[in-house]
Amino acid sequence: MCGIVGYVGNRRAAPLLLGALKKLEYRGYDSAGIALLTDEIAVKKCTGSVSGLSGALQMAGTCGIGHTRWATHGAPSEQNAHPHVWKRFAVVHNGIIENYKTLRAECEQRGETFYSETDSEVIAHLLEFYFQGDLIAALQRVCSRLSGSYALAVICTKCPGTVALARMRSPLVVGVGGGVWCASDMPAIAAKNRTYYTLADGEFALLSARAVFYDGEGRVIQKKPAACDAEDCIPVKKGYRHYMRKEIGETASVLENRSRMLRAWTSPAVRQALGEARRLSFVACGTAYHACLAAKCAFEALARVPCSVTVASEYRYADPILEKGELVIAVSQSGETADTIAAAELAKQRGAGVLAVVNVTDSTLAGMADHVLSVGAGREIAVAATKSFNAQLMLLYSLAATLAEAKGKRGYGDLLKELPSLASQTVSVGEGVRAWVAYFMSASSVYFIGRGADHVAALEGSLKLKEITYIPSEGYPAGELKHGTLALVEQGTPVVAVLTSERLAQKTMNAVHEVYARGARVFLVTSLAEQARSKELTGAVVIPECGEIFSPMLSVIPLQLLAYYVSVARGINPDRPRNLAKSVTVE
Ligand code: F6R
Repeated sequence: MCGIVGYVGNRRAAPLLLGALKKLEYRGYDSAGIALLTDEIAVKKCTGSVSGLSGALQMAGTCGIGHTRWATHGAPSEQNAHPHVWKRFAVVHNGIIENYKTLRAECEQRGETFYSETDSEVIAHLLEFYFQGDLIAALQRVCSRLSGSYALAVICTKCPGTVALARMRSPLVVGVGGGVWCASDMPAIAAKNRTYYTLADGEFALLSARAVFYDGEGRVIQKKPAACDAEDCIPVKKGYRHYMRKEIGETASVLENRSRMLRAWTSPAVRQALGEARRLSFVACGTAYHACLAAKCAFEALARVPCSVTVASEYRYADPILEKGELVIAVSQSGETADTIAAAELAKQRGAGVLAVVNVTDSTLAGMADHVLSVGAGREIAVAATKSFNAQLMLLYSLAATLAEAKGKRGYGDLLKELPSLASQTVSVGEGVRAWVAYFMSASSVYFIGRGADHVAALEGSLKLKEITYIPSEGYPAGELKHGTLALVEQGTPVVAVLTSERLAQKTMNAVHEVYARGARVFLVTSLAEQARSKELTGAVVIPECGEIFSPMLSVIPLQLLAYYVSVARGINPDRPRNLAKSVTVE
């Protein structure tokens, strides 16, 4: 969460920093700020998005730092916005300083004044305290006092034309070309003819006319340039009004690319790790957690390998019992989710092998895992995950099918090859949900129900709806509603049922009858055309048939579209829902 940027060069820094920050807003947009270094430090901050800083465009200086915030400590106010300044230093920070209270008390005892409620401000104070002329030495000393996670960019009036960087468990990249740049993520600074470097945990850098990198001991190190596909890095909406709708539309082509590479995914080492695994433990958060639930259905049904799925933030503190031969599969679009990384680290410490399934391959999670597989969804800009979910499913289903094949159960690979074109058809028929929007516009709550794999789609549909429409919503196993939640269904309450299993059709339809009888407006996403004819339905979308196990791949698409269209109709920007950020790098 939070995005940081820095620039040193010959051009005026303010417009460049603001342009770069704009591209990082998916990481947070509660408040923003920049600091420019001339003989002194000049700061401009605002609440809300980076566009509130347009008054800063004229600021002088060719060296500076910037920040877009997702509040963790302290309200999203101008006072709490970064950069934080203390005497000769200004600092921007992404991450969380867990011991900031102790450090702040120490500074306050020295008579120093704090202006914000943030955990970050203390870093500027410590820099001032430890600085003796060498910026990297001071930064090293400060970092040795910090617990938690940080990507830091620092300027100092005693070091003209210089930005200093430090990284621990929060991403930071450096770009050299047309000036020297840094940012939390590549797209902020992606341009042709620029060379990129990724800072590793514990490393430091000094940006001036060039970038110099240091290890934790302060020794200069040479770093290999990181790959950057500028085309992929520079976000474009391609005629769509929002990234989210564009990204849903890209699902079929993403799956098509992945499907062609089906075999290449499973390197011999991964095959061996999977083949030898006696148990699979999935850890993930949010949408990726739902992908793991779908994967569990597939691995257990096709390959008969026992699986468990745990929300990563719970796994870490649950003192998990790891069995011999257990493989932990950590799934994350960004590869930067702090909870998922912490869960994977714990699993490694306890001797388990870790397979990371990521979309961003140069991410922290990918860096620490024993094996890495890329879902290859391409860059996802909208905060709500859509195509990356489908790509995660494609990869995880392929692994399950590969494992099943190794055990003599053939045929699933052929079915997987059909999924890209079925996904394309589903996006087209899924547009039918636009006719449902009016019924959701002012709903006070919505329920999504399904059984088995359909329940996973219901959970994901519900998450999408709540995060981008702000309508309270729950995903439920269809048979569970009557054990309590049915009490909440009243006249007009929208209930979306997902039904793709012939085997469970009657059971799910029983739940439909039950909610209909209590006044609910029922909508159905189904691959069973005859069920769509039920008179109890206000709306139905019939999606292609792809078998019960793989069905969330398709049934989720109309639900993503439903959330999108309700969000737009409610006047919300679906790409940037309030309080959320794309990359959750704090615990
Ligand atoms: C929901 C959403 C989040 C993420 C979650 C995990 O649309 O995007 O729930 O799925 O924050 O993020 P990653 O997959 O990057 O670990």
